[in-house]
Amino acid sequence: MTNKRRILVTSALPYANGPLHLGHLLEHIQTDIWVRYQRARGHECHYVCADDTHGTAIMLKAEQQGISSEQLIEKIHAEHSQDFNDFLISHDNYYSTHSEENKTYSEEIYLQLYKKGFIAEREITQAFDPEKQLFLADRYIKGTCPKCRAVDQYGDNCEVCGATYSPVDLIDPFSTISGAKPVDKQSVHYFFKLPEFKAFLEQWLTNENLQSSVTNKLGEWLEAGLQEWDISRDAPYFGFEIPNAPGKFFYVWLDAPIGYMASFKNYCENNPKAKDLDFDDFWQKDQAAKQGTELYHFIGKDIINFHGLFWPAMLHACDLRLPSAIFAHGFVMINGEKMSKSRGTFIMARTYLEHFKPEYLRYFFASKLSDGIDDIDLNLEDFVQKVNSDLVGKLVNIASRCAGFITKRFDNTLAATLPNPQLHNDFIRESEAIGNAYEQREFAKAMRLIMALADRANQYIDEQQPWVVAKQEGRDEELQAICTQGICAFATLITYLKPVLPELASNAEAFLNTDLNWDSLEQSLCGSKINKFKPLLGRIDNDSVEKMLGSVKPVEAKKPATKKQKKSVPEDNSIADEIEFDDFAKVDLRVAKIVKAEHVEGADKLLKLTLDLGGEQRTVFSGIKAAYSPEDLEGKLTVMIANLKPRKMRFGMSEGMVLAAGPGGENIYLLEPHQGAAAGMRIK
Ligand code: 2FM
Ligand code: ZN
Repeated sequence: MTNKRRILVTSALPYANGPLHLGHLLEHIQTDIWVRYQRARGHECHYVCADDTHGTAIMLKAEQQGISSEQLIEKIHAEHSQDFNDFLISHDNYYSTHSEENKTYSEEIYLQLYKKGFIAEREITQAFDPEKQLFLADRYIKGTCPKCRAVDQYGDNCEVCGATYSPVDLIDPFSTISGAKPVDKQSVHYFFKLPEFKAFLEQWLTNENLQSSVTNKLGEWLEAGLQEWDISRDAPYFGFEIPNAPGKFFYVWLDAPIGYMASFKNYCENNPKAKDLDFDDFWQKDQAAKQGTELYHFIGKDIINFHGLFWPAMLHACDLRLPSAIFAHGFVMINGEKMSKSRGTFIMARTYLEHFKPEYLRYFFASKLSDGIDDIDLNLEDFVQKVNSDLVGKLVNIASRCAGFITKRFDNTLAATLPNPQLHNDFIRESEAIGNAYEQREFAKAMRLIMALADRANQYIDEQQPWVVAKQEGRDEELQAICTQGICAFATLITYLKPVLPELASNAEAFLNTDLNWDSLEQSLCGSKINKFKPLLGRIDNDSVEKMLGSVKPVEAKKPATKKQKKSVPEDNSIADEIEFDDFAKVDLRVAKIVKAEHVEGADKLLKLTLDLGGEQRTVFSGIKAAYSPEDLEGKLTVMIANLKPRKMRFGMSEGMVLAAGPGGENIYLLEPHQGAAAGMRIK
């Protein structure tokens, strides 16, 4: 092994406010494959991660569950660790940002920034929930759109008419936490003076290891002008209190990346595997440069700003080492669409594991991943097809076609030489291209190259027809040689796939009676004894996919509104206490049949409904997307206001309104008449 590299790798820290889902898995599988590849090549490669435990969301979640934030993050840490373990993710340390190490580093880094004059302090005005006594981030404020008067709109834009505004413009704004009307309140905040790092960041952008999509994004932000970054939050907040600033806490995103350092520190100090490791070799600027250590952060494309701007600027300001690169990836899509709770495609790690082995997903993701930030589509038919055809049909098949003869006819012993050494050499020669593809995170390419070799191995067996040779007298030696060639090809393929399929590889090693190492690819198995072949992997089918999706729905679909959600309905002042019968009689309420329901491109909340009123058709846009999948609605009856003046919306004209009950979001329920009612009937 030449040139042993010393590498530290991280995946983004998952929030400790809920279970892991397939999006987390994409990232950790991508990182893990890369890490295992580096280790396979003899490099020193440490992989650390942690739960991201701070912030308002976690605090509120704990409160909802009637437990302390500490109890919540402990429970989630156990679940996350188990999930990662079961997906064969080989973290060296899976820690928590709520740790002594992280508190120490966060304070140290902050105090250095402070002493160097990189922290500004000023009073700002923010929305405040007077009932809950809590400052409200924009996402916790809803209200009525000032332009079209649609209710239940978030503080920054209206999903119905497309207007953009700030939360102070909302009519009847309410806190989604308590339902109270927010008031303005001043408080002092602390800011990191990012603009002072403009020149540094321009320089950092020239780092040739950065993906072009990342460089472009960062470049745009630099051009648009850097803003000071608000790094403080007021109590109550679950996090670390800022030194010399009672009642002020570090914003979760300040201490989250520092959590990478903290997890590594904890590993260095506590793990016997790391007893010779020096933390400073990887983090102190000069020492890291002298040692030539490398640092890589694998992240989703949604958090490039934190890792590409704030984090390097903070590190630079404190004379800490910079990341060698940040590796961003896209999102997971299911059957071409964003994972969605209402569509029942928000698949949790645990749900997947209840139906499939982890390695099927590891292989599938590997077969789709490149070094770019394109989204990765988990088309479930494709998943079944690919796993069956590549892993079972091609890979495992090679061994199962050859092993039986070696066991039964040759007492488990492989032939002393290969009949086609050229074929074997061709397999080994591919190691360079396959290795490069792994190194560049072009895993899809690596999988293609490996499967092309698997095709060649199968083709060889097809041509040699060992099952025919086996029946002919005097061809024993030939039979043993053909099967040995097949088994050796299988061993090489498994060596290549080991970073992706570690468990399968370990079972294959037991079968082959040897350890498979990238750097001893040339060592031949000829003449050695193998063990009895046991099936390594079974086929999967669409039924299991259906079962998995079936088990997602009841758990994730519409939950009954909780007390809190009910409370989040604003008191709508525009509703009169009493109306005349004549007023009511003006409303033309009708039974309508939903003949078509469709997603609206670009709309997060709306479905487009085509309604039949007994002959006449209407188009209505309705904010029920979070609660219903279109296919569940088609053919159903509901109730609509048929004489509402048509309204022009961003996505087209809405000719009426369907009636639904509930606070909104996932918890909205369309009215449906009793049996016997028919489209067009007037409601009286
Ligand atoms: O976006 C997220 O899920 C964050 N919890 C990631 C944090 S990564 C790091 F900076 F800590
Ligand atoms: Zn509006």
